[in-house]
Amino acid sequence: MFNFAVQSKVILSTYAKIYRKYYQFLHKMHLTEQNKNDCMPLKIALFASGSGSNAENIVNYFSGSSDVQTPLIVSNKPDAYVHERARKLGVPSYTFTASEFREATAILKLLEAFEIDFIVLAGFLLKVSEPILHAYPNKIINIHPALLPKFGGKGMYGHHVHEAVVAAGERETGITIHYVNENYDEGKVIFQAKCEVSPDDTPDTVAQKIHELEQQHFPVQLENLLMINGCTK
Ligand code: GRF
Repeated sequence: MFNFAVQSKVILSTYAKIYRKYYQFLHKMHLTEQNKNDCMPLKIALFASGSGSNAENIVNYFSGSSDVQTPLIVSNKPDAYVHERARKLGVPSYTFTASEFREATAILKLLEAFEIDFIVLAGFLLKVSEPILHAYPNKIINIHPALLPKFGGKGMYGHHVHEAVVAAGERETGITIHYVNENYDEGKVIFQAKCEVSPDDTPDTVAQKIHELEQQHFPVQLENLLMINGCTK
């Protein structure tokens, strides 16, 4: 009688162990599957109107990353140098007219086809239209070559900004990375970095300082931001 009880207990505990192992195995498989679905790499579309040095820097920074991909460049200028950079980088680039950007149907289709999660404006001069803002809430980021709210707004782009900074006798300037909303340069600030403006600086030398700040900080700040937002799919 005693033996039978002991034997039954041993058999039951062996079954329990096997069941537990099986359950752990299933749980692990489920988590792996969940990770696969939840943590797909985030995909950025880069919007650029000009030379595209920021777009190129961002593509290079994330090349080989398993967390962030840059599969698409979009422009409003067919002859912008960013297309040449895109060709060399092996990233497809597309051009849309200003009215296509306003209306947005074709662009949103393209973004959907490339499974784009975030839009990064890297020297993009058009205002982002409402349908695009609506499709990507808090997921559009811009870089501005000054310390916003100073030297922002309509007409304040590229060299105009550096000329205004020098003309105003500013002692410092810098870059601002910010979310995009319906007004030029007014979305929430994410990051700023400063540099000195000395009395003998010209708009050109200021432009060079800003370029260096952008190259140093823009991709790193994007990475920080995207990792916080990570696994959005
Ligand atoms: C950058 O200075 C950026 O801050 C501003 O436009 C410039 C674009 O330069 N929005 P690039 O086209 O990336 O070389």
